[in-house]
Amino acid sequence: MDQTNIDGRLIVVSNAEPFQHVFDEGEVKQEKRAGGLTTGLDPMMKNSDNLWVAWGRGEADFEVTDDSEKVVVPDEETGYTLKRIELTEEEVDGFYYGFSNSSLWPICHSFPHKALLNKDNWKTYKKVNRKFAENVIEEVEPGDKIWVQDYQLALVPNMIREELPEAKIALFWHIPWPPWETFGIIPWKQELVEGMLGADFIGFHTSWLVHNFLDTVFKLGGAANRGEGLARTDSGSAIVRDIPLGIDTDFFKKTPDQAEKAEQLKEDFACSKLILGVDRLDYTKGIDRRMEAISTFFEKYPQYKNKVSFVERISPSRSRVQEYKNMREKIERMIGQINGELRGERWVPIRYFYQQLPQKELIPYYLAADIGLLTPLIDGMNLVAKEYVATREKGMLILSEFAGAAETLTEAIKVNPYNPEKVADALHQAISTPEEEQRRKFAKMKNKLNQMDIHWWRDRFLDEWELSIHSR
Ligand code: G6P
Repeated sequence: MDQTNIDGRLIVVSNAEPFQHVFDEGEVKQEKRAGGLTTGLDPMMKNSDNLWVAWGRGEADFEVTDDSEKVVVPDEETGYTLKRIELTEEEVDGFYYGFSNSSLWPICHSFPHKALLNKDNWKTYKKVNRKFAENVIEEVEPGDKIWVQDYQLALVPNMIREELPEAKIALFWHIPWPPWETFGIIPWKQELVEGMLGADFIGFHTSWLVHNFLDTVFKLGGAANRGEGLARTDSGSAIVRDIPLGIDTDFFKKTPDQAEKAEQLKEDFACSKLILGVDRLDYTKGIDRRMEAISTFFEKYPQYKNKVSFVERISPSRSRVQEYKNMREKIERMIGQINGELRGERWVPIRYFYQQLPQKELIPYYLAADIGLLTPLIDGMNLVAKEYVATREKGMLILSEFAGAAETLTEAIKVNPYNPEKVADALHQAISTPEEEQRRKFAKMKNKLNQMDIHWWRDRFLDEWELSIHSR
């Protein structure tokens, strides 16, 4: 350990890495990964000595790392250090596709019927969590703060705590925390929660998630103080707070080039109103229900045929999990049906893209879209909703009432994503909203996004974490 390091670095630990390296015509190329966590956290790491530890899953990831598996990303000038962890095929299956994404993900999103509860996957999850913990322990210097991220690494805080009792450890949970009766079906619930309580401080996006978590701790026989936001079991205790993740609003200020591309898109799509959805392919995003709502919309409001088009940009995700394969097939079938029935000579009701786009290239789509339609069935946050608003001066946002972002973006038209009639009505309402009102609503939402941006989130988290350590 280097005793001279008194200020301490931030060590971010997550399953997903912010950048991956791939082969492109024989060359190694760096790519940014899709997903709320990595796009959200990367801006706060830029230009720093901080360290990010994550699974290296790009095919060329280990071509560019040094002897300790480290690489500077995105570049030497604005970069920070990324330490990559290599996982075997078997580990990827049991830990990532298995327990993380076929058990914890569906349960935390309140889809218990989709959850697989397989003991071998659980064992692999523990083994891989241990691997992450060991990789972090190797790096820690006095004063460092270890900030673990998300459901894939729930056991890491306590695994580090056992080795380094004095370490400063926090955890941010980026996805929902379900009601007790849903979380309670996991056979290893006690171990999971005790693993998390190795952290001094735990953050969630919204207040109702904090409530659900404290309720779980209480039901498991621990102590939970709602007023103070305190959770305690025999293994440890943590302060628990809601701190909604923000975005890097500066990144979303449009350039003339992006504005020009947006104009081009509008022309190409040949419609007078463009409505946009951007999602990772996931059954929690409610894309199939949205298709049903679009179909209802054209039935109920036929005046919009030949005028209004929907653009659905979907980035591939977790394609080896059966539920995700099923969802892709279902969405494509529904789009095929709607387009087959309704399309005109030049007019196509739904333009569908199944491809990951670099975040910068999404900006022209945000600029071209008169309305953002984001209707997840449940979502920890939904940063796309924030990005859409940050990019524009006017427009309309239709947002699921079950997305964490709805707690902040109260000027959006809130909808129940399970009710196609109401989503269709919301679309009609959004199209008919006068420009003045749009501008007023956007100004209010942008104000909140600027105040509660990614830098605010980081500082707020770090301050509250520090306070929680001192109040012990
Ligand atoms: C969500 C999760 C993240 C995850 C991301 C992308 O935002 O909260 O932990 O990284 O989805 O999913 P993936 O499985 O591709 O990492």
